[in-house]
Amino acid sequence: MSKWQKSDWRAKPRVQMPDYADAAELAQVEAQLSQYPPLVFAGEARALKAKLAAAARGEAFLLQGGDCAESFAEFNADIIRDTFKVLLQMAVVLTFGAKVPVVKVGRMAGQFAKPRSAPTETVNGVELPSYKGDIVNGFEFTEQARRPDPKRMLQAYTQAAASLNLLRAFSKGGFADIHRVHAWTLGFTDRDEAEKYREMAGRISDTLDFMIAAGVKGETFLQMSQVDFFTSHEALLLEYEEALCRVDSTTGLPVAGSGHMIWIGDRTRQPDGAHVEFARGVQNPIGLKCGPTISDEDLKVLIEKLNPKNEEGRLTLIARFGAGKVGDHLPRLIRTVTQMGANVLWSCDPMHGNTIKSATGYKTRPFDNVLSEVQDFFAVHNAEGTIPGGVHFEMTGKDVTECTGGVRAVAEEDLSDRYHTACDPRLNASQALELAFLVAEELGNRREEARRAVL
Ligand code: PEP
Ligand code: CO
Repeated sequence: MSKWQKSDWRAKPRVQMPDYADAAELAQVEAQLSQYPPLVFAGEARALKAKLAAAARGEAFLLQGGDCAESFAEFNADIIRDTFKVLLQMAVVLTFGAKVPVVKVGRMAGQFAKPRSAPTETVNGVELPSYKGDIVNGFEFTEQARRPDPKRMLQAYTQAAASLNLLRAFSKGGFADIHRVHAWTLGFTDRDEAEKYREMAGRISDTLDFMIAAGVKGETFLQMSQVDFFTSHEALLLEYEEALCRVDSTTGLPVAGSGHMIWIGDRTRQPDGAHVEFARGVQNPIGLKCGPTISDEDLKVLIEKLNPKNEEGRLTLIARFGAGKVGDHLPRLIRTVTQMGANVLWSCDPMHGNTIKSATGYKTRPFDNVLSEVQDFFAVHNAEGTIPGGVHFEMTGKDVTECTGGVRAVAEEDLSDRYHTACDPRLNASQALELAFLVAEELGNRREEARRAVL
């Protein structure tokens, strides 16, 4: 077989990608992008791979989250800071439950391109191309905005670079200091339903207070004031991915320079398709979304293609079936993986199988369904004796009203109050934390059972 080339995907069937009208303009943008510096360094992608390998063994836990789609309009330091902060808070809660390190990966600094259920959208008899994310076209329902524009790739690159720069500064520059994360646990919520969360938050607070009082400083303190934070996005727009693909000078192997981890969406995982072809050749950790339509045979072929050397940490299978459907699909897929002896990290995306239209016309996700998919994911792994190694959420640090339910209940009538998403409905900060508490509880129970089994 000839050596993989970053442009090989072009000979494969492609889906969900835009048709650019002006080939010369597209080529010019691609040429320009391919001269730009990559956003990440291959050594970082390898470091993330090692951490994901630990998560697959149950020695760490993956927390992946952020926007459904980043947008050019909603781009400022506060938005990045708030999402980053909630991820840190969730990570503290999860560390407390799992008693293992939490691997923090943002759907950030590159999450721009969106697959859509229909290629066009019709409003009042007018049919236009669907919105495919700000890297492709504009949200506004006009012919001009919806035309795929290759120059948008340059703006996406610039925004990703600036976001990543700030995330790196927050991660290492003192913002992630444990003392600051501590503050939120003080008034998490005062509702009765939240009693168990309040109790856990109280225990975390006490632990942090104890550490501070005991004078944890020096090296340990420095470690606690810095975090490793990684970026990820769906590698949907392959012209962009190819233009940022580089050969890593340390290993001589290709690396996607657009983010630390990339994933293949549920709609673009055709085993012989363009997206799988691109992802198989880069050394980054790869995610693969697995929805109800994935067959055991497809999964087998995909694992062989995407991780032929059965490398640990290379492949994360992101289960997204929908509440009530996990039991129909996850056990068969887990058995396929186990029979192959394949090394994979199992993560749970409880968002994408749970999108519904509310009576008020908004796309939403009921919090209870999100919660119940997470619980089923854990229950199936417990029954199969396998490791639930991570979670994948669409969330924001802002107080939006996009998903219904939660302790500070968002009702269907409230959705219109602060519905800001550029694509799918996200958990708000309070819902995201509540979910982290639930996952921490599940992880804590698993630990407890494992301990009892040893006694
Ligand atoms: C997404 O993660 O935003 C997405 C579109 O997911 P999926 O491919 O699982 O539908
Ligand atoms: Co989404």
